Amino acid sequence: EKMPLKMEVNGKPHSLQVEPRSTLLDILREQLDLTGTKKGCDHGQCGACTVHVDGHRVNSCLTLGVMVNGKRITTIEGLAKGEELHPMQEAFLKHDGFQCGYCTPGQIMSAVACIREGHANSEGEIREYMSGNICRCGAYPNIVNAIQEVKA
Ligand code: FES
Repeated sequence: EKMPLKMEVNGKPHSLQVEPRSTLLDILREQLDLTGTKKGCDHGQCGACTVHVDGHRVNSCLTLGVMVNGKRITTIEGLAKGEELHPMQEAFLKHDGFQCGYCTPGQIMSAVACIREGHANSEGEIREYMSGNICRCGAYPNIVNAIQEVKA
């Protein structure tokens, strides 16, 4: 039986009916068509599904939709202001912080949280905070450079 779920996504209120077992990741992708948030492993090991819930980063594959009732969600689609990219998006472009791009939405959501939560004071701190976001192409040094530029 479906359950009601009210949440604000990228500034827009939504009133949904969801399966109690549906993850936030699947609801975003399948019910709201917000496919920028990626499904890599679907069990908390890759970070591709990272979004912000009330400003804190979470793995949306490990979060049930019903757990975010009444909360404010931000996805990669919500970072840019119209045509103007978020500074972290600009920095990833400038520093080549990706190759295939599949992990990039999650990397950027974590990177924004890294600075906001005060964990970008050194390369080591950044690498530690970002360690849950896996990049198979190995763009890590460029991602760290992007974060350090935005932090500066
Ligand atoms: Fe959620 Fe991999 S898809 S951590």
